[in-house]
Amino acid sequence: MNTLAVFLIAVVAVATAAPSAILVDEDPEPVATVTTCGGLVNTSSAAINFQLGESIPAGQVCLWTVQAPYDAIRFTLKESGLGMGDSLKLTRFIGAVPGYQYNVTEVGANYTYSAGTVLVTLVTGASASSGFSLEMYSSGDLDAGGGGFTHYETFQAATGATAYPGNGQPYMDDEVAVFIVSPSESGSRTLTFTGMDVEDSTGCIYDSVEVFSWSVSMDHLHSEARVCGSALPPPIMLETGLGVIIFKTDSSVTQGGFAFNWM
Ligand SMILES: *[C@@H]1O[C@H](CO)[C@@H](O)[C@H](O)[C@H]1NC(C)=O
Ligand SMILES: *[C@@H]1O[C@H](CO)[C@@H](O)[C@H](O)[C@H]1NC(C)=O
Ligand SMILES: *[C@@H]1O[C@H](CO)[C@@H](O)[C@H](O)[C@H]1NC(C)=O
Repeated sequence: MNTLAVFLIAVVAVATAAPSAILVDEDPEPVATVTTCGGLVNTSSAAINFQLGESIPAGQVCLWTVQAPYDAIRFTLKESGLGMGDSLKLTRFIGAVPGYQYNVTEVGANYTYSAGTVLVTLVTGASASSGFSLEMYSSGDLDAGGGGFTHYETFQAATGATAYPGNGQPYMDDEVAVFIVSPSESGSRTLTFTGMDVEDSTGCIYDSVEVFSWSVSMDHLHSEARVCGSALPPPIMLETGLGVIIFKTDSSVTQGGFAFNWM
């Protein structure tokens, strides 16, 4: 075969290669409207309209977990009554690892990520303010980086307790379970583990429970403890009341799980 023939075959091969996927456009308008303080937003687009035009008490915390189906994710602030002391943040959360963060301050600006999942957090400051409308649109290719949680739960009660799995069975291999403690009544809380039976290892590299709290001074989720084994860790302070508890397991050895309360 001469070089020209090889060249032509190569050109034909490239020209007839199937497109990798069909790219999806953004929805023209948000397909869902969320007005609650926090929760799971699992749609192609959504408007988070929280206390729009109404007051929000000081020290309010809310956390929305946005899990869009496509890998180009755009947030835009449509309206805002938030003030200087208030914090509205986006945090990349691929594989349940808190990552790149945006301060959402500018109405009309676009804040974009090239994969999900994304956490939206609101922590209001000392003076009362009013709410906001934040829209989210996803587009592009199917998102391989988002979601994949084996369990997801939000707790808004002022005090409470939970156990995982809590059904008398051991937990599973390859878990990524996410628990959000965001009491609707503002104020700090103490999170206390009341049961621990998680595969032990130095540095908890196999199975782990990690507790993040929202640090006002750092203005982001801060890892307070990463625990495993069977010893009960010391109580953990949740400065604003907001806690993100992430349970991850590897591909072998499963045990009884864990339990904690907050008050
Ligand atoms: C989000 O929706 C998709 C599709 O309906 C589903 O497969 C996935 O489990 C949902 N995620 C959660 C955390 O519920
Ligand atoms: C975001 O806000 C925090 C404090 O609220 C500030 O320290 C940080 O510099 C801000 N980041 C950007 C990119 O504006
Ligand atoms: C934000 O993104 C949308 C959609 O791509 C675009 O129409 C709009 O012009 C962008 N706005 C800014 C301020 O970049």
